[in-house]
Amino acid sequence: MRHFTSVSQLGDWQEAFAQAQYVKQNPFADQALGKNKTLLLVFFNNSLRTRLSTQKAGLNLGMNVIVLDIAHGAWKLETERGVVMDGDKSEHLLEAIPVMGCYCDIIGVRSFARFESKEDDYNEVILNQFIQYSGRPVFSMEAATRHPLQTYADLITIEEHKTKARPKVVMTWAPHPKALPQAVPNSFVEGMKLADYDFVIANPEGYDLAPEFTRGIPVVHDQDETLKGADFVYAKNWASYDNYGQVLSQDRSWTVTTEKMALTDNAKFLHCLPVRRNMIVTDEVIESPQSLVIPEAANRVVSAQTVLKQILQSL
Ligand code: CP
Repeated sequence: MRHFTSVSQLGDWQEAFAQAQYVKQNPFADQALGKNKTLLLVFFNNSLRTRLSTQKAGLNLGMNVIVLDIAHGAWKLETERGVVMDGDKSEHLLEAIPVMGCYCDIIGVRSFARFESKEDDYNEVILNQFIQYSGRPVFSMEAATRHPLQTYADLITIEEHKTKARPKVVMTWAPHPKALPQAVPNSFVEGMKLADYDFVIANPEGYDLAPEFTRGIPVVHDQDETLKGADFVYAKNWASYDNYGQVLSQDRSWTVTTEKMALTDNAKFLHCLPVRRNMIVTDEVIESPQSLVIPEAANRVVSAQTVLKQILQSL
């Protein structure tokens, strides 16, 4: 593997799970792979889990790790070609990227959807510029349309906790005050296809995800109906795709409550975090024994380390 931008690149899911379990049980077994190799993590957006877990993954593999927060300490970057740079942006991304490539062996990039242009976001303009101009293997730490390391950790967590071969997994939209990208839900759909679980999406009218992701997956606009018999409930907010980037609803009847969880088959609760309590999920549900949000976050080290190991092996 050279670049990693989609969980679908993992190939066979049982093999990908076995590789993750090996890394989890032997976190320091591959330190020779990363010796004298430098990992650069570039953040255009905030992060807690991705920042810490990916650094930890690199350190476990014996790598040197550098973190660059573009908004704090770097020059303000222009991203459009042809712009007369007479404003507040001092450096162009097209110089910055190859320069960053000079200082490292592998680059991780976080660049969220900007909601200025659906076309630019869905063409992954920033991530693809890193792939094109850095001269280094690049992996996504959440880009505009996908969050593959999160999804890999989600899948590992489900596989570790499932009690039947093909569990019913429901991904439900839940309310949030701000417009959030579709990267996590898009990516989760890709992961569900990879693992071939019994998968249903519940979202209100107006919140259907991009058809290129959901093709072949049932999408239901009745949350209660969908939750019946669920083994896992994956809650997430996302802004509208059709009315791109808009918040059409903050309907709190979609919040995951104890009453909603009672409709399920004693389901486990998942969320990628950070989560807005009592908007997405109630205090009672996220603090309940059914909640897997902390082991799910812990598995972010495992997913990042398994992917980084494969990239190191390809150098
Ligand atoms: N889930 C996740 O990616 O968390 P952070 O945004 O804190 O990195």
